[in-house]
Amino acid sequence: MSEEKYPFSIEPLGTTTLCIRHNREPIGFVSLLHYKETNQGEIVGLYIDPSFRRKGFAKRLIYGILDAARKEGLEEVKMTIAQDNEGANSFIEGTKFGFQKYNNWVLRL
Ligand SMILES: CC(C)(COP(=O)(O)OP(=O)(O)OC[C@H]1O[C@@H](n2cnc3c(N)ncnc32)[C@H](O)[C@@H]1OP(=O)(O)O)[C@@H](O)C(=O)NCCC(=O)NCCS
Repeated sequence: MSEEKYPFSIEPLGTTTLCIRHNREPIGFVSLLHYKETNQGEIVGLYIDPSFRRKGFAKRLIYGILDAARKEGLEEVKMTIAQDNEGANSFIEGTKFGFQKYNNWVLRL
């Protein structure tokens, strides 16, 4: 068998997931991956049911997940959004959390 070209490992990663419900039905989610070794986090899986959009629910989820990130002692969170995802990019720009755009959206906590 040939030697691996790139060293890699598969391991569990700490995560926090928040769910927002309406009448007990889940209508939105967001998750935070914790990269403890660098005190960085990554926001993934932000989603709001289409019939509940533009009511501030994603904003509330992001506030909640940033709170969790600070409690975990993370110093920076990033969020990758596809360039053609106009809704999500407008969300990050419109909400003024303070994310800065490098290659990803990055927020110093
Ligand atoms: C992006 C998404 C999570 C936003 O959820 P939301 O609950 O509608 O967002 P909010 O209501 O909290 O929006 C807050 C502010 O962000 C901005 N915003 C949000 N969605 C926007 C859109 N589609 N177009 C323009 N501005 C938008 C507005 O400034 C809005 O405030 P306003 O409604 O008072 O004008 C939702 O559209 C979604 O689930 N999209 C599909 C999944 C996705 O793309 N997730 C991100 C992957 S990285």
